[in-house]
Amino acid sequence: MVPPVVQSATFFGGLPDDPHELRYNRYGNNPTQVSLAHKLAALEGAEAALALSSGMAAISLVLLALARQGDHVLSSSLLYGATRTFMEKELPRRGVEVSFVDPRSPRSWRHAIRPSTRALYLEVPVNPTLRIPDPTPVGQLGLDRGIPLVVDATFATPMNLRPLEHGADVVVHSATKYMGGHSDLTAGVVAGARPLVDEVTALMHLYGSAIDPHTAWLLDRGLRTLPVRMEAHNRGATELARRLQGVPGIAEVIHPSLPEHPDHALASELMDGPGGMLGVVLEGGDRVAEEVVSRLALMAVAPSLGGVETLVSLPHLTSHRAMSQAAREESGIPSGFIRISVGLEEPADLEADIRQALASRGG
Ligand SMILES: Cc1ncc(COP(=O)(O)O)c(C=O)c1O
Repeated sequence: MVPPVVQSATFFGGLPDDPHELRYNRYGNNPTQVSLAHKLAALEGAEAALALSSGMAAISLVLLALARQGDHVLSSSLLYGATRTFMEKELPRRGVEVSFVDPRSPRSWRHAIRPSTRALYLEVPVNPTLRIPDPTPVGQLGLDRGIPLVVDATFATPMNLRPLEHGADVVVHSATKYMGGHSDLTAGVVAGARPLVDEVTALMHLYGSAIDPHTAWLLDRGLRTLPVRMEAHNRGATELARRLQGVPGIAEVIHPSLPEHPDHALASELMDGPGGMLGVVLEGGDRVAEEVVSRLALMAVAPSLGGVETLVSLPHLTSHRAMSQAAREESGIPSGFIRISVGLEEPADLEADIRQALASRGG
C-alpha cells in the first residue's frame, strides 16, 4: 500500500547492450523520484512534472531554462523575497534583463513586453499580501506572442488553484510548504509541457538540484493528506479571519475569504478555496508587531508556512527583509504586518492567543 523509498544512489546499468536508461539520483530517475513526479503532474493536470531540492531550485532553473543572455523576463513586482533577489541580481549577472510590472494594473503587461521577452512570471496568491493577480489575461497575452507564463502557486497548492487551467504554461511550487505539509522537508516542483520539463531536468543534472529519495518519499506521504489538510487550512483561516476583525489593536485583517479583500470576487471565481494564509496589520507598526508576536504562546514564531502547526512571521524580518520599508509599503506590506500560516488548531484557541498577546503588551 505504501510506495517504497528506494534509498539507492545508483543502479545496475551502463553496458553497451543495456536497453535501460542510466539511473542515478542526480538525474531524478530513481524510482521514488519518478513515481512522485507522476503524481505531481497528475495533481497539476500537466503533461510532465519534476521534483527538485527546493522551491528556489524550481524557480531558478525554470527561469534559466527559459531565458538566455540577451533575453528579457517580465515579472510581477509582487514576489517572494528570494525570487525577487534572483530576478534583480542573479539573472542580470547572466545577461538577462528583468523588468517588473505591478500586477494590480493588468494593462501594464502589454506595454512592458519586448521582442526579447522570453518569460512572464506571476505569484498567485502573493506572499505575504495575499493579493490574487489574475493569470488569465497575462496567459492570453503570452499565448498571442508565444511567451510562456510561469506561475508560483505555492500558497494555493493544486487543491485551491491549478494555474494550467487558467492560462499558465508552467507551475512552480515550494513543496516545503503545504505539499509536504509537516515542516519537515525542503522541496520544489515544476510542472508543465514535457519539452520545458526536460530542459529543466537537463539543468538539474548540471546544477545538482535533484530531490533526494527520502525527501521524495516524505513529500509523497504529505500529498496523500493534501486535500483534507487544505480543506482544514481553508476553513481555519476563514474562521480566524472573521474572529480577528474588530479585535482592539488590529487595524486590518487580510484574507481572500473576506468581502473587503480587494480580490475577493476573483478569488471566489478562480480558486477552490481561499487558502490558509492570513495577514494581520497591527496598530502601532513593526515595533509593536515584534513585541506582540514575541508574546504568543500557542502560535510559533518561525519562517516558512504550510505545516499543521500555526506559524507566524514578520515579513520585514524574514521573507522581505531585503526590501526597504518604502518598497515594502509600495508592495502592500505596511509597517505592523504579521503573516500567519493557520495550522490545524482550533481557531478559537488561536484567537485567544492573539488576544492575550495584545492584552499582555498593554498590561
Ligand atoms: C511563494 C514562495 N515561493 C517560493 C519559495 C521558496 O521555497 P523554498 O524555501 O522551498 O526554496 C517560498 C518560500 O517561502 C515561497 O513562499
